[in-house]
Amino acid sequence: MFDDYVDCFGGEFYTVDIRLLPLMQMRSLVSHRTQLICDDSVRFLERWVHSNPRRKADLVYLDSYDLDPRSPYAAAVHGIREYLAIRPALGEGSLLLVDDTPISPDVCPPEWRHEAEAFLEREGVMPGKGMLIVPYLDSTRAVTKMHHGYQVLYRFDR
Ligand SMILES: C[S@@+](CC[C@H](N)C(=O)[O-])C[C@H]1O[C@@H](n2cnc3c(N)ncnc32)[C@H](O)[C@@H]1O
Repeated sequence: MFDDYVDCFGGEFYTVDIRLLPLMQMRSLVSHRTQLICDDSVRFLERWVHSNPRRKADLVYLDSYDLDPRSPYAAAVHGIREYLAIRPALGEGSLLLVDDTPISPDVCPPEWRHEAEAFLEREGVMPGKGMLIVPYLDSTRAVTKMHHGYQVLYRFDR
C-alpha cells in the first residue's frame, strides 16, 4: 500500500525487517521507489537520521517486534527506542502510526482479548507496542492525537 502510494504520487519508501525472508518475498512486488532493508529497525533509523540530518519523514509506521500481550515490555521498549531514533526526523506535519497499541480490550483481536484484560487488571495499563510512546506523546505539546483504536496515530505540530 505504501509502495503504491509513492509509486503514484512520488517520494521514497523504506521498509525494514530483521529477517531476510519477508524482504525477499516483497522484492518482485514493489516499485523502484521502495527500498527493502534487512536490519534491526532501531539501528536503521539511527543511521538514517545520521546520514540525512536535514530530512523530514512524512510518515513513520512502527510495527516491528511481535507483541506478547502477557509480557509486552520487550516490544514496548523496542517501540520507544524506535521513536527516539526517528524523533529528529519528525517535524510539522509528520505522521507517526504505531500498530498493536489497543486503547481498550474491546478493540483487541478475540484471541488475545482475555490476556489484554488480565494485563490491564494487573498493571493498570493496556499492553501494546506503543504503551510507552503513548503516555510520553500525550504529555507533550508537540503532537495532536488523530486516532486511537487498535493503532495510534499522531501528527507532529512542530
Ligand atoms: C507483526 S510483523 C509486521 C510486518 C509488517 N509490518 C506487516 O504488516 O506485514 C513484525 C515484523 O517485525 C520484524 N522484527 C522483529 N524484530 C525486529 C527488529 N528488531 N528490527 C526490525 N524488524 C524486526 C519481524 O521479523 C516481523 O516480520
